[in-house]
Amino acid sequence: MIYPKPADGQSYLINSNNYRQLHQVAEVEPNAFWLDMAKRLDWMQFPTKSGNWQFQKPVSIKWFEDGVLNICANCVDRHADSTPDKTAIIWVNDQGTITTYISYATLLKEVNAMAFSLQNLGVQKGDRVIIYMPMIPEIAYAMLACARIGAIHSVVFGGFSPESLAGRIQDCGAKVVVTANEGIRGGKLIPLKANVDKALLQVAQVKKVLVVNHTSTNVPMVEGRDVVYAPNYNQAVVPEPINAEDPLFILYTSGSTGKPKGVLHTSGGYLTYASLTHQWIFDCKYDDIYWCTADAGWITGHSYVIYGPLANGATTVMFEGVPNYPNPDRLWKIIDDLKVSIFYTAPTAIRSLMQAGDEWLQTTSRQSLRVLGSVGEPINQEAWEWYYHQVGKAQCPIVDTWWQTETGGILITPLPGVHDLKPSSATQPFFGIQPVLLDEQGHEINDNSAEGRLALKASWPGQMRTVYGDHGRFEETYFSQFPGYYFSGDGARRDDDGDYWLTGRVDDVLNVSGHRLGTAEIETAATLDHSIIETAVVGFPHAIKGEGIMVFAISASHTTHNLEELKAIIKNTIRSQIGPIASPDEIYIVKGLPKTRSGKIMRRILRCIARSEFEKIGDVSTLAEPSVVDHIIGIVCAKT
Ligand code: PRX
Repeated sequence: MIYPKPADGQSYLINSNNYRQLHQVAEVEPNAFWLDMAKRLDWMQFPTKSGNWQFQKPVSIKWFEDGVLNICANCVDRHADSTPDKTAIIWVNDQGTITTYISYATLLKEVNAMAFSLQNLGVQKGDRVIIYMPMIPEIAYAMLACARIGAIHSVVFGGFSPESLAGRIQDCGAKVVVTANEGIRGGKLIPLKANVDKALLQVAQVKKVLVVNHTSTNVPMVEGRDVVYAPNYNQAVVPEPINAEDPLFILYTSGSTGKPKGVLHTSGGYLTYASLTHQWIFDCKYDDIYWCTADAGWITGHSYVIYGPLANGATTVMFEGVPNYPNPDRLWKIIDDLKVSIFYTAPTAIRSLMQAGDEWLQTTSRQSLRVLGSVGEPINQEAWEWYYHQVGKAQCPIVDTWWQTETGGILITPLPGVHDLKPSSATQPFFGIQPVLLDEQGHEINDNSAEGRLALKASWPGQMRTVYGDHGRFEETYFSQFPGYYFSGDGARRDDDGDYWLTGRVDDVLNVSGHRLGTAEIETAATLDHSIIETAVVGFPHAIKGEGIMVFAISASHTTHNLEELKAIIKNTIRSQIGPIASPDEIYIVKGLPKTRSGKIMRRILRCIARSEFEKIGDVSTLAEPSVVDHIIGIVCAKT
């Protein structure tokens, strides 16, 4: 099924009149194209250089390298000058009882005050600051304040455990943490400051903790270390001149091996890309009320709640709560209340609201909507159709945007005024983006109707520059399997029209409710308790989460725990090591795992079992112990 582009396509910023020409310039003269796009920002010194990159080792990626700018000045000051009264942020609290409109003038005042506080705590250009906060305006102030003084922020999602937080603090060498006493999500209190306290028992380097009092709860404060945030509005902090290639932030993300990686993004290229893609893909114009439901702790929150929209002087909505609290009409009510015109969310939210039933849509009109977006995982056809017909009443194009923490911004997506829509297809590359499909040997598959590994053969300004503190890991992870390409880790198919259909990860990375988790990371966590000697983790299709987590575990022979106790131990250890987002959906205690004779776990076999695709298991005779396969099938089937 194809949904043709809107007949009134000319009213879109990018439409059939200007698309072809822009596309051609971006393809033929990418450096000139991107330098031209960089003009959308205010520079203290406009760059003369555009892209300067190589994907062969030693991998090096630079954009606008002789340019100087300040990211905060671009997101705040220039709009506070030109449109001081325009609303920058509309914040809605968890209960839905408070809606706060924050103008660009107020945003400047607040960000300035936060920057002053950070400076008082000794934060200087280049220092790393951990931000562990709920979705309240202060998280935006803290990020922008770091950008103002040239500090590098690393936001850690509030759902991560103290152990995960400690690992990130240690890896980036932060000396300052900004947090809140508590967060509130779906009516539940989240003990953020208590989590920070626990994390700091493990890492000694943090000198100061800045605490925003969000709820009325008093939390213990460590004398000399912890400071309650009290904004001082009387001191001006001048935006620091920042080189385009100076780091803006580090964001940790899971890969197929080892600890989460600190994805490093720099300044000029990142903001050019986030702002351009935000404006053109969502067709965001002056009067739009734009709402992306992502938490600021993820890349989507960075690029499309904060940096992109604010760089464009847009009005961006920040919501503290969750889609189904107190009821599954929560998002639709906010859309009506605020007259949201552009709405961007994740398939997992769409599926859970779809499951809650259409009656939750009946009391709202959603008349203000004109563009819908999806991100985080492939959106299945049924969810797409429901989003399009029920939520958008067949009036709003859906942009299914494919991208990653590493890419900084959207790479493959329809443009609402240009492309025909195909449910479940992310369709076409954005301007200047050159995706390829590779076969297992790394050859480009050039015909349409092909399926392969999705890689990029040219850089773009929003691309990550390195893994913080480990450039070798950056090269190894993304550029070694297919030299000369950036390999995304995703599989994709291209149809006869050249449209891309993402088929999911081809590595050991799970995508659970749009959250990325490495199987290795979960396995390591699960074996920390001495009752468990080995585990293997695989994903399986899950109606709401997209992918669920299945753990196969071998218990220690000495354990006296029964099966239910062992399962509880595994669940609790994973939750405390990583956080509730990594909670397993199914756990099986087994006697052995399918391994090759050299000891490698055959996760492929476990994946077949997890999906009940027994016929795909194939020949198991080369396994060290072939009989374990039947044993595991027996255990899994006994449950179902
Ligand atoms: O597998 C792809 C999936 O999410 C992965 C990136 O996850 P993360 O870095 O956490 O960033 C999520 C938000 C950008 C990708 O490798 N993914 C993201 N968007 C889509 C998607 N898969 C299919 N279609 C999408 N639109």
